[in-house]
Amino acid sequence: MKSVIVRTFENTDLPGAAAALTEVHATDGYPVEGVDHPEAWLRSDDVIAAWVAEVEGAVVGHVALMRPQGEDAVSLWMQQSGDAEDQIAVLARLFVVKAARRHAVGELLMQAAMSYGSEYGLRLVLDVMTKDAAAIRLYERLGWREIGRAPHHYGDGQSVDAICYVAPSG
Ligand SMILES: CC(C)(COP(=O)(O)OP(=O)(O)OC[C@H]1O[C@@H](n2cnc3c(N)ncnc32)[C@H](O)[C@@H]1OP(=O)(O)O)[C@@H](O)C(=O)NCCC(=O)NCCS
Repeated sequence: MKSVIVRTFENTDLPGAAAALTEVHATDGYPVEGVDHPEAWLRSDDVIAAWVAEVEGAVVGHVALMRPQGEDAVSLWMQQSGDAEDQIAVLARLFVVKAARRHAVGELLMQAAMSYGSEYGLRLVLDVMTKDAAAIRLYERLGWREIGRAPHHYGDGQSVDAICYVAPSG
């Protein structure tokens, strides 16, 4: 694969990132709730920081850190650590288009988000559907640790099993 650049998200990335997300939803069913409005889903006010991966000018991947919004992973970590909510960020919106996978793009995106967390003293948590096996392997490879399980609710009363993780400290 041609060289990959991972860099901070810019507003001009929005159409490319939305197209990549739509593609990932078609291939992997991520996110489970669907993406009727991909641009809004990517650029909510809750985003603290976001990064894209680019290959030859095209967005092939994305990740974001988000302010806590009542996620189970956040409350589990607050209970277990005593951390306050404003010391925690939620890693979310991680995806890489199928054609660019297995070249460490996901890992580079994760490392960008994890470095930011370390720099700003934010402990990162996330939840992942048990079906998303490649993502689970990636998190565990990077030292993330399971902190509990909680169903992920979406749509019209549907739910899927999810695992909550915390990033290694520092
Ligand atoms: C999870 C996801 C982001 C991983 O992206 P990726 O770019 O393929 O990630 P990486 O390349 O860093 O790692 C994936 C695998 O490729 C392997 N790999 C990395 N570089 C490699 C190389 N040069 N040659 C061969 N294999 C390589 C890794 O070891 C890893 O192997 P494993 O899955 O057997 O453990 C991607 O699969 C995805 O978008 N999935 C759908 C959406 C999703 O589940 N998002 C997470 C929601 S919480």
